[in-house]
Amino acid sequence: MTSHVKDLKLAVLGEKRLAWAGRDMPVLEIIKNDFKKSKPFKGKRVSACMHVTAETANLMLTLQAGGADITLVASNPLSTQDDIAAALVKNHGLKVLAIRGEDNKTYYNHLNQALKNKPHITMDDGADLISLLHNKYKNQAKNILGSMEETTTGVIRLRSLAAAGKLMLPVIAVNDAKTKNLFDNRYGTGQSTLDGIIRATGLLVAGKNIVVAGYGWCGRGFAMRARGMGAKVIVTEVDEIKALEAAMDGFSVMAMKEAAKVGDVFCTITGDIKVIDKEHFKVMKDGAMVCNSGHFDVEINIPALKKLASKINYNVNANVDEYILGKRRIYVLGQGRLINLAAAEGHPSSVMDMSFSTQALAAEQVAKSAGKLTIKVHNVSEKIEKRVAMLKLKSLGIKIDKLSAEQAAYLSSWELGT
Ligand code: ADE
Repeated sequence: MTSHVKDLKLAVLGEKRLAWAGRDMPVLEIIKNDFKKSKPFKGKRVSACMHVTAETANLMLTLQAGGADITLVASNPLSTQDDIAAALVKNHGLKVLAIRGEDNKTYYNHLNQALKNKPHITMDDGADLISLLHNKYKNQAKNILGSMEETTTGVIRLRSLAAAGKLMLPVIAVNDAKTKNLFDNRYGTGQSTLDGIIRATGLLVAGKNIVVAGYGWCGRGFAMRARGMGAKVIVTEVDEIKALEAAMDGFSVMAMKEAAKVGDVFCTITGDIKVIDKEHFKVMKDGAMVCNSGHFDVEINIPALKKLASKINYNVNANVDEYILGKRRIYVLGQGRLINLAAAEGHPSSVMDMSFSTQALAAEQVAKSAGKLTIKVHNVSEKIEKRVAMLKLKSLGIKIDKLSAEQAAYLSSWELGT
């Protein structure tokens, strides 16, 4: 199998950027050095379907240091950093099939190649690879020791596969680890989503009505950061508890139908479909901007917007399309795909350090399991979570207290009371 990347000449830039990102990933570096000695992936083929970024490159090099033979494909047609893909192929001998802007056919062609390579371990960001395996390569499932899943949407898909009794291999829900979602989803998405919106539009955030659809960890992070830059943040939710939480966190909470009339910028982060729909576009203000930071490009009903529009001006600014609706203009950022990766560079390296250290250690667990993991969706072990958190604290120069023997005994006793 040959790699398929945009231009190998971009490797010079890609190499610099992946090294720069690596500076901010000290925990992964420690794990990489351990893997160099222990070689947990010796003789193992790993197929990963992830956003091809500088941070992912560092994860791949960590697995490679542990002996893995890696094939990397994109988990989103618009998130690939072509210079990084080139550097991985040219300087590190990885097989990479990913080109920013690839069409759907090429995207799936790449995923097919990753499975035709008969992996022993797979890694997904959104469950596209595993889903393809369950549809088309079922006979390979028995040879796969396990798979890791990076994102909320992917874990939801896998849990529904398991609930339907159709899951064919063990999966580790890396997304659900505290060392992943409390940090990556909240601080990573929070910051990088704003970064993407600003890079695409040059928006002055202060004073704008920013509507955040969804108050999960990603939505919370984005709402918090948008408020920090002076936006008047409105949250929309379907979950009563999360809506209350948003209200008590001090945000305005309302139905999308009302928010649609007042928002200047809209960002969907729900994991569901048609969160912004025809009826909402109809009442939006002239100049409203809509974008998405959820995994798939289904949260904004762009086909409905296309039908409403009398004219579309593509790329009026990089990553901005203008839809004309009578006398109003609505701007769609990043084609409704993940704005933080389509218009910016994804989460900062320092936070991906935690997510990808968790990934690397989960992959090591799978490699060492020798096929003994049960077929279900597993959580990341507490041992791995504690190790990642401890190493991250250390890298930040933070020391914390330890329970005394007396305190530990107190916490585990039921006799002691008033
Ligand atoms: N998902 C969000 N940000 C990312 C990044 N920088 N690298 C890989 N996956 C990501």
